[in-house]
Amino acid sequence: MSIHNDVPTLDEIPDAIGFPHTVMPTGWFQVGWSHELKVGDVRPLKYFKQQQVMYRGEDGGVIVMSAFCAHFGAHLGHGGRVDGCNIVCPYHGWVWGPDGRNVFAPHEGKASSANRRMKRYPATESSGIIWVWHDAQDRDPLWPAPPERRGERNFLPIGPATSYGWQDVTAHPQYVVENVVDIDHFIYVHKNTYIPELRSPDDYPTLDLREPIGHVIAKPPRGSSQCHGVGVIVVDFPVDKDRPWRSPAVVYSCTTPIDNETSDMFGCVLVEQDASVEGADNETPVGRALKRVSEQRFQQQADFTIWKNMVYMRRPAYSRYEGKLFLQVRQWAEQFYPEDAA
Ligand code: FES
Ligand SMILES: [Fe+2]
Repeated sequence: MSIHNDVPTLDEIPDAIGFPHTVMPTGWFQVGWSHELKVGDVRPLKYFKQQQVMYRGEDGGVIVMSAFCAHFGAHLGHGGRVDGCNIVCPYHGWVWGPDGRNVFAPHEGKASSANRRMKRYPATESSGIIWVWHDAQDRDPLWPAPPERRGERNFLPIGPATSYGWQDVTAHPQYVVENVVDIDHFIYVHKNTYIPELRSPDDYPTLDLREPIGHVIAKPPRGSSQCHGVGVIVVDFPVDKDRPWRSPAVVYSCTTPIDNETSDMFGCVLVEQDASVEGADNETPVGRALKRVSEQRFQQQADFTIWKNMVYMRRPAYSRYEGKLFLQVRQWAEQFYPEDAA
């Protein structure tokens, strides 16, 4: 027998591989950009193994509800029309209010007497992002949506030039949130030059994961991350004295699951304009600001090929220092998978 047979292969550790949850995670997730949804706009959505309709009523509020009309099943996101703060179904004209209740059924001349309503998803906006709360057990939001950050500095607005996204990416949000503490991959995937090849405990971040909004505090001058559940990562990049050309920024990296294999990814950067560039306006990043946006966009998709083709390791072969960080993040993330959901 070869000596190598003393060490198991992955095939010989049957529970080493496979993500342990099938329920869609609980939390706030990005479903769009504020600047892309004007009053009266209606959009179909497809998240959390379900389908939804999103619209903006005339009071400016964003409403998200289940896609299928509770009368006869038409998809409100394909041909539905906004009337005031209500949505009108394209099939038989039933009108649904922002609270999901029927307000008018034309053939009855009044609100439908049928005992039906539309499922509502709590929705809100901050930093130019539209957030939706998802919970497989239909619990009300258990923590607040990510806060507004635009007023903190003289940031450029979130718009087409400061935001980006990718649809139908093969990745689960869990991969993305675990990435935040995956120090080694910052060298190989993201070409980070701060971290020495031979790591010491000082190179690893401090974690504060007591709440659903977890904090990963990297050693200065690197960024510190807030993880709002598994779907939203907000990274604060401070002023970097060693790299004065690198603008401080707030970077969003959002992953919204479509099903267990596929997610939509969204990203945006709050950054100040590079005023040293002639003709710089208050809308479109140029110079250093543009470089910052381009870099973050590049970094957010740098892992896609890895995620698309990897298997989830339930029991990884943790190297020194690694296990402590990953195990803490995985234990924290358990709260977002209510397995007993119907
Ligand atoms: S299916 Fe919507 S009104 Fe009939
Ligand atoms: Fe990464």
